[in-house]
Amino acid sequence: MSIKDQYRILEFGDLGDERGNLVVVEGAQDIPFEIKRVFYIYGSDSEVVRGQHANRNSEFVLINVSGTSKVRVDNGFEEAVIELNRPRMGLYLPTMLWKDMYEFSEDSVLLVLTNTHYDGKEYIRDYGEFLKEVGGTGLK
Ligand code: TYD
Repeated sequence: MSIKDQYRILEFGDLGDERGNLVVVEGAQDIPFEIKRVFYIYGSDSEVVRGQHANRNSEFVLINVSGTSKVRVDNGFEEAVIELNRPRMGLYLPTMLWKDMYEFSEDSVLLVLTNTHYDGKEYIRDYGEFLKEVGGTGLK
């Protein structure tokens, strides 16, 4: 399957009015899963590369609610780079994609929604192990 059919760019509605913007993300409605966990990443500078793992069970929606960052996704055969640069933009990532997040702007606040509670055992942090599990040829 082409990597472009695996991730999805979401565009959330804006319920804002003259008082300002209001963006709502409802689990299983605006995104493809019920939300079990929320975390956010900020204070990572432009040199830092985060992520560098794949997940067996977790799906994610990433939203730069402030600032910008880039996400590189890799399915073992091909890769894509997505820039998160709008508070209404979401990036849906299914399970078993290798991901790197990088080039965080100074004001970057990267909000992450996921369908699981944290379980370190469902993380694959070794790229060789990831390739083995997806049967991939590798890009690194
Ligand atoms: P890590 O997965 O390395 O963060 P990132 O994907 O942004 O690079 O997580 C850093 C540490 O925090 C690691 O020890 C695991 C822990 N952690 C939790 O305990 N719960 C969580 O929900 C997350 C995302 C991380």
